[in-house]
Amino acid sequence: MKLTLVVGARPNFMKVASLINATKEFENIQFTLVHTGQHYDKNLNEVFFEDLEIPKPDINLEVGSGSQAFQTAEIMVKFELFLRTHETDFVIVVGDINSSMACAIVAKKMNFRLAHIEAGLESGDREMPEEINRLIIDAIADYYFATTKYAVDNLLKRGISSNKIFLVGNTMIDSLIRSLPKIRPSEHQSKITKEYILLTLHRPSNVDSFEKLNSILKVIEDSTLDNLQIVFPLHPRTLKKISDQYLENDKFVILEPLRYLEFLFLIKNAKLIITDSGGIQEETTYLKKPCLTLRNSTERPETCSQGTNILIGDDYQLIKQHVLEIISGNEKKGSDIEFWDGNTGQRIIKTLKEILDLEKG
Ligand code: UD1
Repeated sequence: MKLTLVVGARPNFMKVASLINATKEFENIQFTLVHTGQHYDKNLNEVFFEDLEIPKPDINLEVGSGSQAFQTAEIMVKFELFLRTHETDFVIVVGDINSSMACAIVAKKMNFRLAHIEAGLESGDREMPEEINRLIIDAIADYYFATTKYAVDNLLKRGISSNKIFLVGNTMIDSLIRSLPKIRPSEHQSKITKEYILLTLHRPSNVDSFEKLNSILKVIEDSTLDNLQIVFPLHPRTLKKISDQYLENDKFVILEPLRYLEFLFLIKNAKLIITDSGGIQEETTYLKKPCLTLRNSTERPETCSQGTNILIGDDYQLIKQHVLEIISGNEKKGSDIEFWDGNTGQRIIKTLKEILDLEKG
């Protein structure tokens, strides 16, 4: 069986690592790893391949940054050229980034079998570019691998036939479980001298406006008592808008984007996490760490209904209230989510093999 795996940006690498590891347990599987080059900075990129112990991409389309349309179009043109001379049984896209959407459209128009890992997620917020990406991929995919029952139900509601949907669990959690024994502090660990809140922000809705970003940081600063620090690894998008007052502020430990194993170390040891990321909502739920999510909606509602996640929305005053509750030991207790057990990659590869065997008779 020949697989084409597409990656483009940071959160893709953990998901694809789970699949690559799983292929080792089966015979006669070859994969080609295509990197679109959406993320190109070393610390958003190469170091993840090292930490996840996955091979370098076979090809890098080197599209880089640009507007939503520019980035998508560049990826489509280059991926089409690549697929013209490439044989594969399945094109596999993961998650909801521009690269996944662009490559899904190209693959399907060239009549390749298209599998979507993390299918069926939906936040209802069409102002998020990722929501548009998810809906488009799910409108055209052939096979849907879902992380939760909620995602399966979304797909069924949209009229997708149940024999194309597979509830397999979470590839991101596969990589988390596999990496936990290897987590380690970063070289900046000595800057962290107290218990801390781990903060990550990169969604355009939170960081593209200078006023909005800095008003969020002000509330977080005011919610943090003197016995706590705020550890804040900065995404390049966020670095462009952050005010100098937070770059030189005693409460904040500002870091560059961290390696995967170093970031997991920070999550594991944080008092709580404040984020707008998708993947971190899942990682904190698995690790049963309190998480406040600075968004109005989530495409991962189980992290709130079953896990440790709380949606804050626009009422930032809630941040202070929740931080105080968590610090005083009154935190939300989460429970385990079905199939988030470290074996999702194996279930996906096994299913793909069965699909192919059935089709080829
Ligand atoms: C993308 C994904 C998002 C994912 C996030 C993880 C989309 C629509 N969004 O958002 O779902 O959670 O990655 O990080 O696909 N930049 C650099 N170096 C890089 C990459 C980007 O400096 O290696 C800068 C560029 O100036 C760019 C900005 O960061 O304009 C944003 O990059 P982009 O790829 O557009 O989206 P992300 O915000 O990273």
